[in-house]
Amino acid sequence: MMRYRAVIFDLDGVLCSTDRFHFEAWKQTAREVKAPFDEKINQRLRGVSRMESLEIILEGSPLALSGAEKLRLAEEKNARYRALLQNLTPADLTPGAEETLAALRAAGIKLAVGSSSKNAVFILERLGAASWFDAVCDGTMISHSKPHPEVFLKAAEMLGEPPGSCLVVEDAAAGLEAARAGGMDCAIIGGADMPFAPEYHIDTLEALRAIALG
Ligand code: BG6
Ligand code: MG
Repeated sequence: MMRYRAVIFDLDGVLCSTDRFHFEAWKQTAREVKAPFDEKINQRLRGVSRMESLEIILEGSPLALSGAEKLRLAEEKNARYRALLQNLTPADLTPGAEETLAALRAAGIKLAVGSSSKNAVFILERLGAASWFDAVCDGTMISHSKPHPEVFLKAAEMLGEPPGSCLVVEDAAAGLEAARAGGMDCAIIGGADMPFAPEYHIDTLEALRAIALG
């Protein structure tokens, strides 16, 4: 008996580690706006959109910027991030990703990506993982980013499954909140602080086999 008919994966921090590239690219933005930037602030950027991430960094800035200036900063950050992403290869996939997804698929479970990133398709291509999913819902297709449930609800709709049949896999608090708001169970990978307990805590992607296949 399958416990879930579909699994929706967050991308950054779940299927691959792009954190260090985001961190590097935002570090320069923070310097430009004279705002502090460290791992703790970086944690708060996980799962939230580019513009919302910029607003979080600007909380620590003494400058008052116009909308046009903010847009320029976000575009420059993305250009730096995209340049760094050129270094991404299939070796940056989270260990066990390929085998685990293949096992879930073989068991008849549908697979999707639910990511706030507008670079998701590019990243999946660089990882060689673009063909592994039945649906990819990303930051280019939504108007509200996590913790709003839109990206996960849309992914479930693309799969043709009701939210109650879907398991979300996340690394960020905003993603856990989005899953809960969408009526989906959530497995959290990694050790980031969460606002409430998820249905599952996992150390590796391999652990999903037992959870999803029940
Ligand atoms: C999420 C990341 O997946 O995508 C966030 O966790 C990031 O840190 C967000 O801000 C938006 O990414 P992008 O690639 O559209 O700038
Ligand atoms: Mg994430």
